[in-house]
Order: sequence, then C-alpha cells, then structure tokens
Amino acid sequence: MQTIQLHDKHFAPYIDATTIEARIIALAQQIDLDYAQERPLFIGILNGSFLFAADLFRHLKIEAEISFIKLASYKGTSSTCNVITAIGLEEDLSNRHVVIIEDIIDTGKTLHSFMQELKNRSPKSIKIASFLTKPSALQYPIVADYIGFEIPNKFVVGYGLDYDGLGRNIPALYQLSE
Ligand code: IMP
Ligand code: MG
Repeated sequence: MQTIQLHDKHFAPYIDATTIEARIIALAQQIDLDYAQERPLFIGILNGSFLFAADLFRHLKIEAEISFIKLASYKGTSSTCNVITAIGLEEDLSNRHVVIIEDIIDTGKTLHSFMQELKNRSPKSIKIASFLTKPSALQYPIVADYIGFEIPNKFVVGYGLDYDGLGRNIPALYQLSE
C-alpha cells in the first residue's frame, strides 16, 4: 500500500481491508450471541459510520433492524455547551434494545450528549458499537461495548472516516504522516 494525499496532508497505510473485515466478522458473531431472540435496533450515526454499519449489519445472522441518523450540534440557550440533537430518529425506542453504531469515539463528547437524548426515549437497553476508539483522547465517560480497534491519538482516514470531506471511500485505514 502506498502513501496517499488528501487536500494538503499525507497519510500512510495503517490497517488493511482484510484485517478490518476479519475484525468486523468477529464483532458480528459476538453481537449474534449477545442478542439472540432480541431483535435489536441498530442506529448508525451518519456520515462516518455508513461503511462500518453496512458491513457489520451484513454479517449479522440474528433478526435485527437498522436506521440511520445525523447528529446536529447547536448552542444551548442556558449554558455555554453545545446541545446535540438527532435528525431522523423516528422509531419508537421504548422497549427496544438499541445498539448505536459510530465510526470513532475520540473525546466522547458527541456520543455523551446523544446518550442523554437517547435515554429520554426509554429504550430497554443501549449499547455502543464503535469501529475505532482513541482511549488516550477520551474526555467524557463513554464506554463502547463493541470496539473494532483501539488506536493511538492520531488522525486517521478511510473506511468511512474523512479528512475535510475526502477519504471516506478508501477501503483501508490510513494514518496522518508526521
Ligand atoms: P468526539 O465527539 O470527540 O468523540 O468526536 C467524534 C467525531 O469526530 C467522529 O464521529 C468523527 O467524525 C470525528 N473524528 C474524531 N477523530 C477522527 C479521526 O481520526 N479521523 C476522522 N474523523 C475523526
Ligand atoms: Mg461521526
């Protein structure tokens, strides 16, 4: 694999497509075991998770549903912190087992805010499947239940993840070159 350029930056090969696929198959098998008979609802968070969500869902053998949402952040009126709201979440979540599908947990801010909104809709359970986590960057109390790969605190692209809009279609993962 060759180094690639997106906009002004160079990225080096990091995790190849075969390794990614094998890991996702293993995650799907684990989820099959954990959710047999439960008919969970998967909620993919756009845009970054679309490839991971598709591949994970394709490998599941249990009965399951999937839906996609976008998270929009806006300034709250009474506080300085941003409020995150879900666009496109129309399902009734009460009494559903929900599995969030995210591309990467970096600081954990995005998911931490979204979890509050999700809990208000009274699902039976909530778990998180994240393709990547950056444990050393984490600033919020978010724990993923299914993790593709734990990576160091370096910027990565490919397999759905972008640098300023580019790189999502690259089938492998690339890491920012120093
Ligand atoms: P958090 O709220 O800090 O956890 O940020 C999560 C979001 O930041 C992800 O859903 C990505 O959209 C973006 N992000 C964080 N790290 C990376 C990276 O290394 N590459 C591409 N996007 C990233
Ligand atoms: Mg994202």
